[in-house]
Amino acid sequence: MMKTITVLPGDGIGPEVTASAVRVLKSIFSTSNRNVQFIEKKIGGAAIDAYGTPLPQETIDQCHHSDAILLGAVGGPKWNQQSMQLRPEQGLLGIRKAMGLFANLRPVEAFQALVDASPLKQSFVEQVDFVIVRELTGGLYFGRPSERLGPNQDRVVDTLAYSRQEIQRVVEKAFQLALKRRRKITSIDKANVLESSRMWREVVNETAKRYPEVAVTHQLVDSAAMQLITNPSQFDVLVTENMFGDILSDEASVLTGSLGMMPSASLRADKVGLYEPAHGSAPDIAGQGKANPLATILSAALLLRYSLDMDTEAAQIETAVRQILNQGIHTSDLHVANHEDQIVSTSEMTDHVIH
Ligand code: NAI
Ligand code: MG
Repeated sequence: MMKTITVLPGDGIGPEVTASAVRVLKSIFSTSNRNVQFIEKKIGGAAIDAYGTPLPQETIDQCHHSDAILLGAVGGPKWNQQSMQLRPEQGLLGIRKAMGLFANLRPVEAFQALVDASPLKQSFVEQVDFVIVRELTGGLYFGRPSERLGPNQDRVVDTLAYSRQEIQRVVEKAFQLALKRRRKITSIDKANVLESSRMWREVVNETAKRYPEVAVTHQLVDSAAMQLITNPSQFDVLVTENMFGDILSDEASVLTGSLGMMPSASLRADKVGLYEPAHGSAPDIAGQGKANPLATILSAALLLRYSLDMDTEAAQIETAVRQILNQGIHTSDLHVANHEDQIVSTSEMTDHVIH
């Protein structure tokens, strides 16, 4: 049966890095004889320019008829003057919401060839291999009320709200993921202070009964923030609320040293997912053939694993990336320890992954 991947290149280096990932995917589908079509649509600034909105209905409709979505990045100085409704970022939030993608996965892995680019001691980071599962559609960022109050508008309220079902579905995802990994879950909350966290803990403990092979621990978010730096290799799967996950995933991204290496997946209960690099549109290097395509190529590997059940091919991409880095082949954003290392362009790096 034919599968459909919708490609949303977006702005800046988005079109360059998604073109690379599509090339890698096409080469894999042709060798494995899979029938997959790619359909490209606009999002972000590119969509504002063409349609006057960062998320055209046409783009949403196409995504609803897809098995997976591959996204580049949105935004840039050109659209910074726009009103809030017309900002490119609204396209990103809008598509995640329209698709009901409630679980954001950020794998964090230390690539051996890059550990000396980490600001932390090599011995701390070389064993790092974990995934943060962040709840993406609820919690503090979406709770109502969120407003200014009082006669002088000098009181303010934000709300951290979850239903039991919203917690259950993301916790379930984390357990399923743990089964495919080292079977360890760390649930992160602030249960000593927040009622929402106490329910979060209840749900994790209930779910754990159905997964006796998974080891579960609970950590308070402040302590987890320290542990991520002082002992990051203890973690396998972390699962947490939206804002906690936002902060911890940015913290975790410094462990591996480079934005250009970090993939992400946003998932829901079925196999449909949206895959994108963690970095932005890098307008400072757009159009120069310098962008590191590996975060997007690694996102394409996640697409194969979670949306198309192609675990073997996903692992092949990940292994190829490790080998290329170990050979001293880098794009210009990666720290070069050895002057014999070879700096390559976006498309040359893509060729290395394919061959
Ligand atoms: P950025 O991630 O685009 O760039 C930060 C720095 O890292 C820049 O120096 C850039 O050249 C470099 N960089 C990023 N990705 C790279 C890659 N693949 N290869 C080589 N170098 C890379 O973040 P910044 O500068 O804060 O934002 C630029 C624009 O991107 C803004 O309009 C921002 O709103 C947008 N943005 C979009 C995101 C998304 O679409 N998910 C996420 C973050 C920012
Ligand atoms: Mg963030």
